[in-house]
Amino acid sequence: MIAGTGIDVVDCAAFEALLREPGSAFEARTFTAAERATSYARRSGAPATHLAARYAAKEATVKALSQAMAPGPLPRALADLSEIEVRCDGDSRPSIALRGRVLSLAEGAGVTRLHLSMSHDGAVATAIVIAER
Ligand SMILES: CC(C)(COP(=O)(O)OP(=O)(O)OC[C@H]1O[C@@H](n2cnc3c(N)ncnc32)[C@H](O)[C@@H]1OP(=O)(O)O)[C@@H](O)C(=O)NCCC(=O)NCCS
Repeated sequence: MIAGTGIDVVDCAAFEALLREPGSAFEARTFTAAERATSYARRSGAPATHLAARYAAKEATVKALSQAMAPGPLPRALADLSEIEVRCDGDSRPSIALRGRVLSLAEGAGVTRLHLSMSHDGAVATAIVIAER
């Protein structure tokens, strides 16, 4: 059964500016090496757009897990976003892998599977996640 849903949109230009802030550790802190490699390897030549979609996927995952935890209380910090990894198969089909504390939280909420879809067009990147129990 569906335990939670989450959706998020990201303004690609604002997100790229955030990534490019001098001395910022945001990108390295938020994304795994595999996510960065995939985003930089995409043929579009716009890695910030692919990272923006992955950021939307992480935020959407937090929302879906948050719903799955209801009516229980939310932990103060629900997730270290680097513990939510967007993976893609050879045909670019995305999926989510959790690790660490966020994996424990998901398991505690009875979540057995997360479904992800992402999209980006021009100024906006978006993602939707469905948590299954
Ligand atoms: C799969 C398809 C729908 C993706 O559409 P798109 O407009 O390129 O996708 P968007 O730009 O909205 O979103 C890109 C995201 O879609 C996801 N995606 C790409 N291919 C996917 C696939 N086969 N399945 C699921 N998700 C896919 C990825 O997450 C991608 O993000 P990333 O590149 O950052 O990893 C498209 O490539 C396709 O095959 N369309 C069918 C065309 C067709 O058969 N037309 C009929 C004859 S004209």
